[in-house]
Amino acid sequence: MTQDEMKQAVARAAVEYVKGGIIGVGTGSTANYFIDELAKVKSRIDGAVASSEATAKRLKSHGIEVLDLNSVGGMEVYVDGADEITRNFHMIKGGGGALTREKIVAACARYFICVADQTKLVDVLGKFPLPVEVIPMARSYVARELVRLGGQPRLREGFTTDNGNVILDVHGLNILDPVALESEINQIAGVVTNGLFARRPADVLLLGTEHGVETCK
Ligand code: A5P
Repeated sequence: MTQDEMKQAVARAAVEYVKGGIIGVGTGSTANYFIDELAKVKSRIDGAVASSEATAKRLKSHGIEVLDLNSVGGMEVYVDGADEITRNFHMIKGGGGALTREKIVAACARYFICVADQTKLVDVLGKFPLPVEVIPMARSYVARELVRLGGQPRLREGFTTDNGNVILDVHGLNILDPVALESEINQIAGVVTNGLFARRPADVLLLGTEHGVETCK
């Protein structure tokens, strides 16, 4: 199975969790496969909340209604990919730059279903550079603080988030305590959010492997 076939397989498996109501939808190539599968059962749902402008566009292109998060009370499931995930379901996300909205939508969902191929499973987070969304005027200050924490931040050149901010990708971190580091980075003035999803980890991991989809709970 190719990596893309594994992504498609986990996307199909995630649709099994769609029973109705409103669905939170993540961002990225795996989430895109999920949207394509969701379209096949769209009559079953009341609409979706998107974690990015790109996801909203793809949902709408399939005729799925996109709802404002402020107009919904919450949702049963949120389905999204990850850049890295551990067996404890702690994740690094934000490779596509949508981390802030992803974290907001995930916070409103009862179940976070992570869909990922086997290349994303790691023992320790940090090989994938940690994305940090930053208010533009705070870029240099935040970068200095991230160096103090042991990282090597690099500005994601030519990229602006859906919220009008910049991303610092932090290389060289060996993240042994993701819950503590998530909080610590979020305390730096000027940080909007960081791509550690550890305080609110996934609840279920649908892992695409060469032998099929492994469900990890
Ligand atoms: C988007 O900002 C990210 O959090 C994605 O969920 C993550 O990068 C996974 O993307 P792929 O499914 O494309 O690997």
